[in-house]
Amino acid sequence: MNGRFVPWEDAKVHVLTHGLHYGTGVFDSMRCYETAIGPAIFRNVEHLERLLRSAELYYMPVGFTVEQLRAAARELVVRNGLRSCYIRPIVNRGYGTMGLNPLEAPVDVTLACWEWGAYLGEEGKHTGIRAKVSSWRRISPQSLIPHAKASGQYLNNVLAKIESLKAGYEEAILLDDAGHVCEGTGENIYVVRDGEIVTPGQHNSILDGITRRSVIQIARDLGYSVVERSIARAELYLADEVFMSGTAAELVPVREIDDHVIGSGKPGEITNVLLAAFEDAIYGRTPRYHEWLDVVEPADSAPSEPAAPGTATADASATG
Ligand SMILES: Cc1ncc(COP(=O)(O)O)c(C=O)c1O
Repeated sequence: MNGRFVPWEDAKVHVLTHGLHYGTGVFDSMRCYETAIGPAIFRNVEHLERLLRSAELYYMPVGFTVEQLRAAARELVVRNGLRSCYIRPIVNRGYGTMGLNPLEAPVDVTLACWEWGAYLGEEGKHTGIRAKVSSWRRISPQSLIPHAKASGQYLNNVLAKIESLKAGYEEAILLDDAGHVCEGTGENIYVVRDGEIVTPGQHNSILDGITRRSVIQIARDLGYSVVERSIARAELYLADEVFMSGTAAELVPVREIDDHVIGSGKPGEITNVLLAAFEDAIYGRTPRYHEWLDVVEPADSAPSEPAAPGTATADASATG
């Protein structure tokens, strides 16, 4: 928190924290995997760069560089003795002033990590999930900033998520302002038809997912055609395959949307190929994608003596 390592139970904020009242925060998410070349944070720098861009979009000056945040994330994983975990960096307007002008409130920077399994369930990765097109539209670029990963913006996703869960589905699919397919509540989406992979483009109010970039590159490297364009709602139902991607959810097949069975009702052939290739990438089994892995402790180095989770103490020089 703001440059110091604090025990889990002491990682607290004041009730008048600005971000708590007005949603004035931005966050990101990374996963660290136990890879073939040691525990490694997947695309650490890209996520932190997006965090700083999100902060800039909401006029929040961050007192740390990408390199300092990167070092903090790495040290956080090591100090907690974790080989595989989820990492949540958040930048928010803190305690100091109330009212809608946030500019005088301090900007707090925190990173936390914990063990977190498959976000949409382990079974969903193998059999596919059931999704529902939400009655809520994805936030409009005329009101908010879909490209920013901002805390307040996620009330939209929370409404869609609750609606889908209460209706008995695992995930919601949001359409954009114009009624085109946008994304899940925390995942980008892809449609496969006649061997071509189609995904909404930047103009469709998507979050520019880091996993999306990785999946598109892997797919193209494997020789698939990937097209970024607007997708009509009916194209979801008519697809041969649909899948989603995100840091929390990873790569997840979708087997049913609005009670229409997608393709054969099982994860499709291209989805399965991409899923395997993506897992090879994140677990360090494909040398060409090693550049995506920020190795925290090289596999052949002797393990250090990490503190027990939550007991790390103050003054990490790495975070300034
Ligand atoms: C709304 C939304 N879309 C897409 C994504 C996927 O982005 P990424 O792959 O960078 O995690 C996320 C998760 O971060 C998200 O919250």
